[in-house]
Amino acid sequence: MRARLIIHGGAWNIPEDQVQDHLHGIKESLLTIFPKLLNGLSALDAVEQAVRILELNPTYDAGKGAFLNEAGEIELDAIIMDGRNLDFGAVGALQNILHPVSVARKVMEETEHAFLVGKGAQKFAREMNFPEEDPKSLLTARELAFFEAIQKDPNFRPHHPFGESPSDTVGAVALDQYGNLAVATSTGGTPRKLVGRVGDSPIPGAGAYADNESGAVSATGWGESIMKVLLSKSVCDLISHFPPKEAAERGIQMMQQKVGGLGGIIGISPEGSYLFAHNTPKMAFGYMDAKGKEVLRIKTDS
Ligand code: GLY
Repeated sequence: MRARLIIHGGAWNIPEDQVQDHLHGIKESLLTIFPKLLNGLSALDAVEQAVRILELNPTYDAGKGAFLNEAGEIELDAIIMDGRNLDFGAVGALQNILHPVSVARKVMEETEHAFLVGKGAQKFAREMNFPEEDPKSLLTARELAFFEAIQKDPNFRPHHPFGESPSDTVGAVALDQYGNLAVATSTGGTPRKLVGRVGDSPIPGAGAYADNESGAVSATGWGESIMKVLLSKSVCDLISHFPPKEAAERGIQMMQQKVGGLGGIIGISPEGSYLFAHNTPKMAFGYMDAKGKEVLRIKTDS
């Protein structure tokens, strides 16, 4: 089985002057992790490591660079899921941690639970020896300026109907040479979200899903709508009935028709076909092709 890796860095109307940064981070993650996958790294390790690279990159709404909530704080959500056995670990509204995806993995592997939130997640992260970050170290000047601008704007809505509102969640899907699928998704949620708001990203079936028998998918976009239709699981189910590309497009259409949601997905079928679709103006994503070369895209039709 040849390894596969696909990564996204958000779906919205990414401004032209931010396109290169979005694609560059995806390329860095692909080129760092894919050779390891070829050398036998597991899909689970691959998606965690790929997402850690994006959490470190201030371009995206994950880890460093995340949006601020209404109180001016960063609260992070993440999930990791193992397609071999449907095990997952997730964290929600986690503060002061750079790599929530790794805390999610520890929840999966070191506890009898699957999902920890808020102070409990933070306490657990501390117990697992994750460094507690100064909140300022996760904050970028860009997000502080954006927060200050939207605080004063009574018309600001976290989800613009034409995908103008930033949605820079990150995610990775991998198939390893042993035939196993895995997925990880990480986000800072939406700008000026209410304190304690958790979106789709850490919800299994919504922001991510992985099952060796049906496929693996990571989602990005308007969390409140992605959750309603359990977008990632819905697309995995569609893969059994339609060619992977069509399954992806049908999933996005279904979300748009049923709940008017905006977003994008990436995924891999059990046979190793990539799938991707979005109904936002752009989605930053990239994957490794059959020749081992990275393919970087900003739109599905570009
Ligand atoms: N899709 C990310 C969020 O809504 O939180």
